[in-house]
Amino acid sequence: MAEQRIGVAVLGLGNIGGAVARALVHDASALERQSGLTLELVGGFARGPEYGERAGIGRERVSSDAEALIDDPQVDVVVEVLGGEQPAAALISRALAAGKHVVTANKEAVSKHLPAMLAAARDGNSALMCEASVGGGIPLLVSLRQIMATNRIERLRGIVNGTTNFILSKMDAEGADYAPTLAEAQALGYAEPDPTADVEGFDASYKLAILASLALGRHVHPQEISRTGISGVTALDIADARARGGTIRLIAGMQRTDDGATLSVAPTFIPNDDLFSRVMSNFNAIEIVGDRVGPVLLHGQGAGPSPTSSAILSDIIEAARAGSAASLRLGE
Ligand SMILES: NC(=O)c1ccc[n+]([C@@H]2O[C@H](COP(=O)([O-])OP(=O)(O)OC[C@H]3O[C@@H](n4cnc5c(N)ncnc54)[C@H](OP(=O)(O)O)[C@@H]3O)[C@@H](O)[C@H]2O)c1
Repeated sequence: MAEQRIGVAVLGLGNIGGAVARALVHDASALERQSGLTLELVGGFARGPEYGERAGIGRERVSSDAEALIDDPQVDVVVEVLGGEQPAAALISRALAAGKHVVTANKEAVSKHLPAMLAAARDGNSALMCEASVGGGIPLLVSLRQIMATNRIERLRGIVNGTTNFILSKMDAEGADYAPTLAEAQALGYAEPDPTADVEGFDASYKLAILASLALGRHVHPQEISRTGISGVTALDIADARARGGTIRLIAGMQRTDDGATLSVAPTFIPNDDLFSRVMSNFNAIEIVGDRVGPVLLHGQGAGPSPTSSAILSDIIEAARAGSAASLRLGE
């Protein structure tokens, strides 16, 4: 028998929120066996009850008032999966200040508003958790934290955007040009109808900003990152990389320097003997280099409802177990 009941609210019942809410309702007994906690979906916030039907959790659990749902005394953990900067960032800070732990997959809101969120978490003695916001299902932030307990992070390097990796690996495999490959990625659902955030490197810069904030112990705003997307990469560039014994990938990188760090997102030549050249399709890979441990490489599915909800559910459980001690923090 589980000892502790944890009430969860899910803000946003789209791809990811729907999967999380569905797991809370339909996989409750497996999650209880695995975690020893009883996770209970108190409600989901969406524009209308039809979102609950679509997510497979029924219409009656859907609320159209996010603030009332956050304030519900039954709610211990708020999962924010609305996406975008606002109202997501304001709702996250409100929940944290009210003493609710927040689990989010929203890299844009976290990377831009991290100081306000951490201040709200301190006020509310609550935890901000965002494992799913970088690297989807890969246990990346937890690994970074574990490594940082005894290491100075010298370097980070990542393929952190599945859409651009899908496009670049397909261009390489087929010798195809950028525009038709983007159109194919859109048709297959690997790229959004408006692909700007992915192909121009914004999404990767949000993720790098979160990683670099943790590694450097200060808030790194995405605007500090030098950013070049992949829309200028041609079939000729890829053929040229091949002739030189490699390929091109969109790399998000941080390199520590004497007076700080260089931070960039850019299409980068990767030699064939580098493991990153074998990161295919929508997979992600992140290399963390610590001064004691040396290079550590993590590889896995960086997106999709199942891997992403895995990270979110783990964060809910960790916040319920450890409380504010589990929270993301900067250099303390
Ligand atoms: N998809 C992935 O594989 C993945 C992986 C890692 C992280 N994430 C992150 O997870 C978050 C959610 O992504 P997603 O793929 O689930 O997006 P999504 O399918 O678009 O879901 C977002 C949901 O939130 C709703 N929503 C947004 N703003 C709202 C508002 N102001 N009021 C009421 N409802 C609102 C949307 O409703 P409408 O559709 O009616 O606008 C939609 O149902 C994002 O931050 C994303 O970056 C996604």
